[in-house]
Amino acid sequence: MREKYPETHEEKLAQLRELRQQAVHSASEEAVSKQHAKGKLTARERIEKLLDPGSFEELDTFVRHRTHAFEMDKRRPYGDAVVTGYGTIDGRTVFVFSQDFTVFGGSLGEVMAEKMCKVMDMAAEVGAPVIGINDSGGARIQEGVVSLGAYGDVFVRNVQCSGVIPQISLVMGPCAGGAVYSPAMTDFIFMVKETSHMFITGPEVIKTVTGEEVEFEELGGAMSHNSKSGVAHFASEDEEACLEDARYLLSFLPLNNLEMPPRVEPLDDAEREDPELDTLVPDDPQKPYDMRDVVSRVVDDGEFFEVHEHYAQNIICGFSRLDGYPVGVVGNQPKHLAGVLDIESSEKAARFVRTCDAFNVPLLTFTDVPGFMPGTSQEWGGIIRHGAKLLYAFTEATVPKLTVVTRKAYGGAYDVMNSKHMLADFNFAWPTAEVAVMGPEGAVNIIYRKDITSSPTPDERRDKLIDDYKAHFANPYSAAERGYIDDVIEPRQTRPKLIKALRVLQTKRVEQPKRKHGNIPL
Ligand code: HXC
Repeated sequence: MREKYPETHEEKLAQLRELRQQAVHSASEEAVSKQHAKGKLTARERIEKLLDPGSFEELDTFVRHRTHAFEMDKRRPYGDAVVTGYGTIDGRTVFVFSQDFTVFGGSLGEVMAEKMCKVMDMAAEVGAPVIGINDSGGARIQEGVVSLGAYGDVFVRNVQCSGVIPQISLVMGPCAGGAVYSPAMTDFIFMVKETSHMFITGPEVIKTVTGEEVEFEELGGAMSHNSKSGVAHFASEDEEACLEDARYLLSFLPLNNLEMPPRVEPLDDAEREDPELDTLVPDDPQKPYDMRDVVSRVVDDGEFFEVHEHYAQNIICGFSRLDGYPVGVVGNQPKHLAGVLDIESSEKAARFVRTCDAFNVPLLTFTDVPGFMPGTSQEWGGIIRHGAKLLYAFTEATVPKLTVVTRKAYGGAYDVMNSKHMLADFNFAWPTAEVAVMGPEGAVNIIYRKDITSSPTPDERRDKLIDDYKAHFANPYSAAERGYIDDVIEPRQTRPKLIKALRVLQTKRVEQPKRKHGNIPL
């Protein structure tokens, strides 16, 4: 029997409402229950929790796929396997796409990519972030090579939006094969423990090709990518926490690269001194301390949103505020591997520095670094190339750059860590700072080798020479004498000093040479 054609206004409105209902409930109840049973929300539930209540405006609700093969023409749900649109987070516009695993396993075909590309294009034009929620079986098998081309269209948008608008990926289910490269090109990746997985090839393929046996979670779960590969920046306990963290992250970022990050009215006193800082660095230079304690005592209200918390823990990176202004904090972590710079920590910090610079977030560096990690694994792994990334990133950054040397600043690592020479704006040192080519023991063993070995009492001679070296170089004053350090400050005064410097730098402008782009040693 033919369907009745709606003729009256009432009938047409009823038809629209009916079709919208179909779009909103396109998944089978069974698929939705399966999703919930895994501890996962549906695509629409995620959007509701991510955005300000009632702010979501959906686009392309009535889009349907155009595939006939494999009897696909018998199942053409409205909206296909992704929900897209825009809304607000804390009143600020964001665009969003949320892949719907309950429809064709969230697999990506031609029209799904068209929907995603539409919001990405709009976001780039109006200058607002894109948040992509990934939960997908990958390329839609029934669409064959068309789906690979469709992925390509998404990748192109990721590249074109890079450095223009913040792109944030929430991986909340499977994300496999080449599909991982879309999130990989975004600025931040969130994963949820136990329910999200990223990998190029799954356990079955790995077993066939290499003989290795590995489970999904160990291979590509949240903690593997947060602590081992560094692919993901955040690991959340559950989806609600993940969505909340994504909202929080945006509070530190501007909507696009032409805007400044949003300032909040500070509650913490800009003049606040913290006497505890005077004694926070242990007298014994070999003794560790937690650089996070320094950060939290200096910044507004102790707020520090750590990025890559579980990866390369010998360096800490994260967002804080000073006088209400968002800042990106980078600090060597004496508590872990004595804060040494190695391949992973150099890459981690370089990426963070570039992200901050792209989005006008000033950089605040805390230095306590004994140098670069020695060893064949580091040398053959390319520490030269990877360390150069951090050097390059700090140098090319034109945002306001502040540095505080709390203790060691040795050798090449001193230069690298946002030193004056790498065009930092204000460099402060605490009286506990040691700015030198290397530590006293190493230095004395090299320059006084003959002197020590020919001495009748080599140990005493060495100790005497070490004391002399310390008096000469294990302090901030030879660097301050040359203006490499702008001021040696009382640790308790770090916060007011930094805030004054940051205020002065609000009008900082740097002319860039004309070029296509630099060639960072990737
Ligand atoms: C079409 C797919 C699909 C896909 C899943 N489905 N993946 N449909 N194309 N790629 C469908 C299933 O047929 C099923 O439909 C529904 O989604 C749910 O899938 P299940 O298997 O029942 O779910 P689950 O047991 O949770 O397993 C999820 C999964 C598995 C691990 C993701 O579905 C899976 O292995 N899918 C294939 C993954 C894959 O190899 N994709 C290609 C990767 S390569 P019904 O109708 O039964 O509910 C790739 C290349 C990208 O993506 C290249 C970019 C350049």
